[in-house]
Amino acid sequence: MAPPAPGLDPWSLLGLFLFRLLLLLPPTAGEGGQGPVPRVKYLAGDGRRALSLFHQKGLQDFDTLLLSADGGTLYVGVREAVLALDIRDPGVPQLKSMIPWPASDKKKRECAFKKNNETQCFNFIRVLVSLNATHLYACGTFAFSPACTFIELRDSHLLPISEDKVVEGKGQSPFDPTHKHTAVLVDGTLYSGTMNNFLGNEPILIRTLGPQPVLKTDTFLLWLQPDASFVAAIPSTQVVYFFFEETASEFEFFDKLRTSRVARVCKNDVGGERLLQRKWTTFLKAQLLCTEPGQLPFNVIRHAVLLPANFSSDQHVYAVFTSQWQIGGTRSSAVCAFSLKDIERAFEGKYKELNKETSRWTTHGVPDDISPRPGSCSVGPSSDKALTFMKAHFLMDEQVVGTPLLVKSGVEYTRLAVEAAQDLDGHSHLVMYLGTTTGALHKAVVSGDSRAHLVEEVQLFPRPEPVLNLQLAPSQGAVFAGFSGGVVRVPRANCSVYESCMDCVLARDPHCAWDPESRICRLLRTPVPRSWRQDVEQGNPGWACANGPMGRSLRSHSRPQIIKEVLAVPNSILELPCPHLSALASYHWGQGPAPAPRASSVVYNGSLLLVLRDGAGGLYQCWATENGFSYPVVSYWVDSQDQPLALAPDLAGIPRERVEAPLTRVGGGAALAAQRSYWPHFLTVTVLLALVLSGALILLLVAPLGALRGRGKVQGCGTLPPGEKAPLSREQHLPPPNDHRTAASSVGADSDHLGTEVV
Ligand SMILES: *[C@@H]1O[C@H](CO)[C@@H](O)[C@H](O)[C@H]1NC(C)=O
Ligand SMILES: *[C@@H]1O[C@H](CO)[C@@H](O)[C@H](O)[C@H]1NC(C)=O
Ligand SMILES: *[C@@H]1O[C@H](CO)[C@@H](O)[C@H](O)[C@H]1NC(C)=O
Ligand SMILES: *[C@@H]1O[C@H](CO)[C@@H](O)[C@H](O)[C@H]1NC(C)=O
Ligand SMILES: *[C@@H]1O[C@H](CO)[C@@H](O)[C@H](O)[C@H]1NC(C)=O
Repeated sequence: MAPPAPGLDPWSLLGLFLFRLLLLLPPTAGEGGQGPVPRVKYLAGDGRRALSLFHQKGLQDFDTLLLSADGGTLYVGVREAVLALDIRDPGVPQLKSMIPWPASDKKKRECAFKKNNETQCFNFIRVLVSLNATHLYACGTFAFSPACTFIELRDSHLLPISEDKVVEGKGQSPFDPTHKHTAVLVDGTLYSGTMNNFLGNEPILIRTLGPQPVLKTDTFLLWLQPDASFVAAIPSTQVVYFFFEETASEFEFFDKLRTSRVARVCKNDVGGERLLQRKWTTFLKAQLLCTEPGQLPFNVIRHAVLLPANFSSDQHVYAVFTSQWQIGGTRSSAVCAFSLKDIERAFEGKYKELNKETSRWTTHGVPDDISPRPGSCSVGPSSDKALTFMKAHFLMDEQVVGTPLLVKSGVEYTRLAVEAAQDLDGHSHLVMYLGTTTGALHKAVVSGDSRAHLVEEVQLFPRPEPVLNLQLAPSQGAVFAGFSGGVVRVPRANCSVYESCMDCVLARDPHCAWDPESRICRLLRTPVPRSWRQDVEQGNPGWACANGPMGRSLRSHSRPQIIKEVLAVPNSILELPCPHLSALASYHWGQGPAPAPRASSVVYNGSLLLVLRDGAGGLYQCWATENGFSYPVVSYWVDSQDQPLALAPDLAGIPRERVEAPLTRVGGGAALAAQRSYWPHFLTVTVLLALVLSGALILLLVAPLGALRGRGKVQGCGTLPPGEKAPLSREQHLPPPNDHRTAASSVGADSDHLGTEVV
């Protein structure tokens, strides 16, 4: 008898769970989240990431999206209507046609007896597929009475649905709009997985339409647990895969343990003749594992997609998972890749078998007396013996283990879309667009065998609400995201937000490359001009932004591209802003090669606030350090109006630009301050300077005291030799300045954080 499968047996799971619970419960609360950080965050409405929203009064729940074969039309299933949107122009999608498809009054009345007539008794479109060149096929919940219909197309305009063409849609659409479902059309045949009854406890996987016989899963054999919830269906050459989650019956666990599964049925299945009539004879399922050491298991699958193109010889399914458990109120998400070969292998291995007497699952080998192998996609009907075997052996022993590409806490991904992007060198990178429960879109890039990095986070809607669906439109260079209030077009990238070669290269976006001739970060196009620069794998500007043989040395980048000249009134406070372009960078201010003087300046919200005293003029630079590479983000030449400084000779030849640095006059400058409302800054500076001064004062006061205390027993002695005093006092008094530095840098860190939130 084989022991329980290693890895995720219930005890190690429980142990892991309790371990995490004990160790991590208190400290993780309020933690910013683990996993990769989006390099740039755009809030809703940020002009640097202009989104186009289609919405219309009276339309809601844009949850079903279908791209036309030519890629120029987006069909959308909304509550009680189907729309055709023209998406060929870059702006807002244009409404081409709209046909209402409300649930009938009779069904709505019936529904209102049992369900909420304000939220549930409508026709929520759940299935929308392209049947052939002239027809779509759609199904909806139809006020808890699923219905389907053909929709005729004329020049991709929709023709109205006549009531007599609406047929029953049980098994194709769920009854309850909150229930999950999936459907895929393969060669004119619809494979769908959803709940098959009003109560929502009878899941079904069914084949309809097309010439082949209608086949279903068997409810009484419990091939699917009553709570099975389907999230994706992916056709392959011979089989169709279904991705879902359900309660794991094979593990004994004190709690309902949910688990993710992949099931498959053969396309050429015709059902049994005496046994398993009109039932699948090839239904098999296996456990999907997406785990990361030291984390709770990601056991709940949310969505899965196949990378359509031949990204690699071995195709992969990419799936997002969350965990059934959460720590400190935050959920985590993971994206795992599953090789189709691994999935196939699991279905060729041993089975699990339920021992009816002990109610325990054991391993059952492959029967060698039945040929062809039961459940294989062999042509023709199977023998009774094979079918009897299939009735009880539907769960595979082997698990399909995924490769985690992205593990992130504090976010719950709902949907994903993937594509391959070629970089300048012709290497393929995986690009994933991940929608969250709070309305954000993450663009994640996986290069080679490494983990994903997050290029950006775009907040799609002002209100935090879930992304219901994502549809990639490769020919339009955009992703479309459906939510309750509309559908949003998100261009793949806006490369022009990266204004320098360094920023362009450090972004590591395979869609963007630096064009050194026009000095612009551009969207990659084909054919690619040879002079363009990019380094998606390493993100090394030292290499990619080099020009000429000297380029490899990092020093060349310390030379600013442009100098901003500031002319200031003596004894005023200057505010020199520094744009925080990247959340992955750390920022610091320098005066020439030295750090910014702490006596006369302070960093507030990323900006340098500088008290302009005598001799404080000169070169001030804000440096970013990212990926082991430092470069000046912005360079200021600060000049006093009274005594202009001669520009340092090594800065000659760099273009200069006169800027107005907002300034506040110290003392008597109320008018100026009020006029430009720099009071908050002024106050901050005053407070901070006061702190610095009082710190210095304390230092002065504490120094002799500390020295006295340090002397201890040698009290009474006059003075110590100077050589002995110095080390003692240094030992005693270094901490205060250190404290100061940490205080100042924590202000800086806070402002970093603030800055990136804003960016
Ligand atoms: C791209 O970014 C640039 C610079 O920030 C901005 O001017 C432009 O409007 C943006 N375009 C889009 C389509 O977001
Ligand atoms: C729901 O039912 C109430 C009472 O019967 C009715 O007033 C209301 O208009 C109905 N709402 C909808 C959306 O049909
Ligand atoms: C498309 O499918 C519909 C519905 O089955 C059918 O009536 C129509 O003839 C088909 N059109 C073509 C061009 O095959
Ligand atoms: C698919 O692979 C073949 C050969 O490996 C290659 O020639 C072709 O360009 C690839 N297609 C895509 C869309 O990547
Ligand atoms: C911090 O700086 C950003 C831009 O530089 C600004 O929008 C924001 O209001 C500043 N925050 C505070 C608290 O001053």
